[in-house]
Amino acid sequence: MRKRSQPVEMPLSNKDKETLDAMLDYLKRSQDDEYAKKHHIRAGVGMAAIQIGLLKRMFVIYFIDENEEEVAYQLVNPVIVESSVKKVALQSGEGCLSVDDEHQGLVHRSYKIKIKGFDALTNKDVEFTATGYKAIVIQHEYDHLNGMFFYNRIDKINPDKPYPGEEII
Ligand code: NI
Repeated sequence: MRKRSQPVEMPLSNKDKETLDAMLDYLKRSQDDEYAKKHHIRAGVGMAAIQIGLLKRMFVIYFIDENEEEVAYQLVNPVIVESSVKKVALQSGEGCLSVDDEHQGLVHRSYKIKIKGFDALTNKDVEFTATGYKAIVIQHEYDHLNGMFFYNRIDKINPDKPYPGEEII
């Protein structure tokens, strides 16, 4: 999990697409309370290939946003090309399907990012900006591609102290 994932060969192979479909399916099912309880799994909103043992630069995101809209991506070879100086963190901290123990504290991330890559869900090259929660989820998964965990971004001395101007959501 500490390793850096390698670029995915393009055009995307059927096998990689199947893997991404299976990962997306897993996330959707994990958000079904009954299913999660029955199979003893936790709900997840994102998953990177390295979490299933594949050192490939790809991850999936799935959640329903505050406007009841589905946010779903299968991003391949993503690159964050812009990150705001302004920070954001989740009040409740972050968790990860691959980290069993709790790590309390604010996980400081950029409030706004611009990302580009190939989205296997729509079969298109994409470039978009994300803010707030969506930006947090993307950065969490992006970190996995570079062997980083969320708790690496918690300040050990002042875990609950926001940065100047940081938005806590
Ligand atoms: Ni994670």
